[in-house]
This record gives sequence, C-alpha cells and structure tokens, in this order.
Amino acid sequence: MNFDDIIDRRGTGATKWDNMEAYGGVSPEDGIPMWVADMDFRAADVLQDAVRGLLERANYGYFTGDGAMNEAIAWWMNERHGWAADPAHMCSTAGLGHAIALLLETFTDPGDEVIIFTPVYHEFTHKIELTGRVVHEAPLVIRDGIYHMNMDALEAGLTGRERMMLISSPHNPAGRIWTPGELHALAEFCDRNDLLLIADEIHHDLVFPGQRFTTFLNAAPEAVGRCFVLTAASKTFNTAGARLGTVTIPDDGMRKRFRRALLEHQTQPNLLGVELTRAAYSPRGAAWVDELVTYLEGNHRLFLDGVARIPGLQAMPMQSTYLAWVDFSGTGMEMEEALRRVHREARLVPSVGAAFGTGGEGFLRFNIATPRARVVEAVERLQAAFADLQ
Ligand SMILES: Cc1ncc(COP(=O)(O)O)c(C=O)c1O
Repeated sequence: MNFDDIIDRRGTGATKWDNMEAYGGVSPEDGIPMWVADMDFRAADVLQDAVRGLLERANYGYFTGDGAMNEAIAWWMNERHGWAADPAHMCSTAGLGHAIALLLETFTDPGDEVIIFTPVYHEFTHKIELTGRVVHEAPLVIRDGIYHMNMDALEAGLTGRERMMLISSPHNPAGRIWTPGELHALAEFCDRNDLLLIADEIHHDLVFPGQRFTTFLNAAPEAVGRCFVLTAASKTFNTAGARLGTVTIPDDGMRKRFRRALLEHQTQPNLLGVELTRAAYSPRGAAWVDELVTYLEGNHRLFLDGVARIPGLQAMPMQSTYLAWVDFSGTGMEMEEALRRVHREARLVPSVGAAFGTGGEGFLRFNIATPRARVVEAVERLQAAFADLQ
C-alpha cells in the first residue's frame, strides 16, 4: 500500500496539523504533530471509490438512513470480531464523543458518578463533567509493564452514587487489550452494583498481528441488558472528519429511550459518513486494515526501540492502537522541563498525559500513525533532546 507516502495536510484545516501551534507552541513548518488521534496516511482506495460514486450522483439531498450501512457493520463485526451484532440494534450518532454525551444524558442524572479507568482518553472526563455528572476514577496499576484494573480498590472505594461505567476497549492510551476474563469480571461488578456499562470499542480493529481482541458482549453475554457497545469506522479507516458512530443497544427498552433522545436532537447519520462506513466495511476494506496494522506494528517496534535507548524514558509495550505512552518520570526532571525539551528542542507535539487523569502525570502520548520516515525522525529528535542523559 502507500503508508510511506508523505501527504501535506497543512493548511487543510486538519486539527492535528493546523492546531498544533496553538496546542503545543510548535510550528507545523518544522514540527511533527503526534497528538490528535488520527492518521496521516492516504485514504484506502475503497473509500476514494465511494467518494467518487457520491460525486457522480451529483445530489446531496435527504436520503433514507443507514439500513445498508448497518448491514455492512454487522457483516464486519461478525467477520472481524466473531460478534453476531444485530443491525436492528444499531443507532447512528454524530461520532462517539456525541454518543457518550447523549448516553450520559439519557441514562444518568446530574450528580451521578461514572466510573472510568485512568489514565484514559481525556474526553471521557470532559463529557462526564460537561453533562454535570461526576467522574469516579479507578486508577489502573502497572504490572509486568502494562496496565491492569484494580477491582479490589474500586470495590473498596464505592460511594453508592455510581450509576455507570465507561471503558475504552482496547484501552487508549497504550492499547492494552482487556482479556475475556477481565471483561467478564467487569460485567459481574456492574451486575453486583447495578451499573450500566458503555464499552467504547472504537480501537478494536487496530490490533497488532498475533493479538486477539474480544468484544464485550462475547466475553459477557449476560450483560446484554445493561450494556451499550460503541463502534465506528473512524479510527480504523481514518474517517473521523465524517462524524459518524454507532451505538449498539441489544435491550429493547434502553434502545427505545436512546432513539427518542436521538429524535429529540434530530440526530441522523450524515451522507458522507454513511457512504464511507459502508464502503470501509467490506472485503477490500479488510485487506487494507490487515496491511495497516502490520505497518503500525512496525512503527511501534521502531518507536519503542528508539525510546528504549534514552535512559529514563520508558514506553509501554502496546498490543493495539497507534497511541504510544511514554513515561518520563525516570528522567528525574520536572514534567515542565521534559515537555519543554520535547516541544522546543525535538519540535514534537505529543498529548500531555496529565489530561488523561490520575496516573497520567509523568507521561506523554505519541501518535505514531504517520509515515515511517517521520517516526524515525521523531525518535532521532527525542534522542538528541535528551542526549545529556545517555
Ligand atoms: C476511546 C475513544 N473513544 C472515542 C474517540 C473519539 O470518537 P469520535 O471522534 O467519534 O468522537 C476516541 C478518539 O481518540 C477514542 O480514543
């Protein structure tokens, strides 16, 4: 494929490039943006063909919904994840951030606590707070170099005000794939404490060769009455700009309530998102993803090897995603100084770990979904910026 091709995204409104100076103070002229979770690769040919088809139709009026797309989603879930998802259970939203906010508003009340396993995707916290709910942090612990949930500590710290749990599966950052046993334990916990559960599986396709992802409802089918599964083609195929996500709700009553909320806000799937998603979830799309994850794993190996040569820096080994997670606490520097070097000397803009909640403070998250030459360059710049530690 063409993952090595360098595409100039500057000046196109791409958040990662055009907002990097505002976020990290580094110009896109010589800087490398490694923050926003999207990919710098050329879109798959199957997507380009879909857009061409749309162009040729030359009409962008009202259209009847998402039926064929939901069939394609069901095909993909079955084919790639062995999950017999029912198209009739799927609800379309304007992306998954939107889905999370609307689920919080529909199924919890202001003041209710929502459990999240930190450090985690910062929008979880934002959405909980913006909707007037309360974050209940369950800090992950690092064992054997990777994250684990500490269910005993969570149980001991319950306040009785918890109403919902929100997980990233696989986990963002660092791409930990939760095992069927761990997911099952979560289902039991939610059952015991009468909690609803949102399984955000947006990263489920970005799984490295040899690793195995299990969808929540396959690990814990008994949780079907309290579970919302969130999926999207947007991370896998880099279509986040088309703002489309899917919430699968097997429970009839909960689905009805959610559909009412969607109707209230006139939330309907957008044409571009539907066309892209339908095209992506196909055998051609699958072949592209197989090549993509092999490429991403190559970037991951290269990045980890390079970081391992810098004393004091520790990158967490990943099983999936392109969101590398690097611990700078071993440098003995204040985080401010480490970040100054990353920005000013290496000219890199990663995401700041503190925004991911408790446990993220000493970390930076590096998005490595960019042509390999750029990852090589980023590693060399990091090594130079911390050369005095060698
Ligand atoms: C776990 C997780 N959920 C949701 C999203 C964003 O979804 P959307 O762009 O559909 O709002 C991200 C983006 O990085 C993510 O990591």
